[in-house]
Amino acid sequence: MLQQTPNDLPHSTSKLAEMAPSHQPVLYQEIIHALRPKSGGRYVDGTLGAGGHAAGLLAGSEPGGLLLGLDVDPQALNLARQRLAPFGERAWLKKATYTTLPSQLADLGWNSVDGILLDLGASSIQFDNPERGFSFLADGPLDMRFDPSNPLTATEIVNMWQEKELADIIFRFGEEPAARRIAKAIVSARPVERTRQLAAIIERVRPRHGSHHHPATQTFQALRIIVNSELESLEKTLPLAMQALGPGGRLAVISFHSLEDRLVKVYFRQESKDCICPPEQPVCTCGHKASVKEVTRRPITPTEEEINQNSRARSAKLRVAEKL
Ligand SMILES: C[S@@+](CC[C@H](N)C(=O)[O-])C[C@H]1O[C@@H](n2cnc3c(N)ncnc32)[C@H](O)[C@@H]1O
Repeated sequence: MLQQTPNDLPHSTSKLAEMAPSHQPVLYQEIIHALRPKSGGRYVDGTLGAGGHAAGLLAGSEPGGLLLGLDVDPQALNLARQRLAPFGERAWLKKATYTTLPSQLADLGWNSVDGILLDLGASSIQFDNPERGFSFLADGPLDMRFDPSNPLTATEIVNMWQEKELADIIFRFGEEPAARRIAKAIVSARPVERTRQLAAIIERVRPRHGSHHHPATQTFQALRIIVNSELESLEKTLPLAMQALGPGGRLAVISFHSLEDRLVKVYFRQESKDCICPPEQPVCTCGHKASVKEVTRRPITPTEEEINQNSRARSAKLRVAEKL
């Protein structure tokens, strides 16, 4: 297995990329480069998915690195278990939300970790399975749950929520200007239980505006964000993740949505400042002390080559911060 030290990163990251399975996770090399896995290091992948990034972190931290991998989706965990089996007991995988990070670390007796990854949103495995209801390209039940034991599904929101509530979430989390029209059309077409049915309702009332996005893209995104409490989970977890890092440890977050990226940017920027008083205040009264250094002032985005190979990478943004 490949050994890696922080000093030979460019060389070893490219070797790691070669070792990675054919289905490449988004910004794979950039994540390995940012988290600098080393032997003896402890890492958390809070959004394990099929384990692509996790495999890179384990390979990069040979022979003594350990990884805790979390995912709420049992199907994802099964895939990751198979993929990470060669790493034996160096990988600890668990069905849990990353919002429970402190208790997961306490269970392992880990006081601090060297790197944490959050690769947000749905995996392509989830998108590509019509039964999960994430995609309007194939017909399936309007489900959209990452965690199948979550009681809230997209069907419930679409059929039970009031028109105004629907319009508000589609506008806010889908950033969809036609939210009101879409919400009205959904309510008059109830019951709405299938992905293609919902997409057709939206197509009828929401013109394409020449964009390359399908008219249903933003509404589906809004529903998914609400079903899975995605923004609340991220907001809650950013400080927990920072607390879990040891000095020099790094948190890397890949987001696919402007609201997620803004949460990460604002949090990293605030925590990297010694004072967070309003600028017009002449004397500092907040007593805030910087606890992190922003490794990326601007987000890292995929290369054209990566986007050509994997169109889902198009909107990815990576931000990295280091604990002081
Ligand atoms: C984009 S995929 C990760 C792909 C992964 N990096 C890879 O290399 O295959 C995101 C994963 O995060 C999971 N997820 C979403 N919200 C979660 C949460 N709150 N806690 C744990 N896992 C979550 C999803 O089920 C999905 O499998």
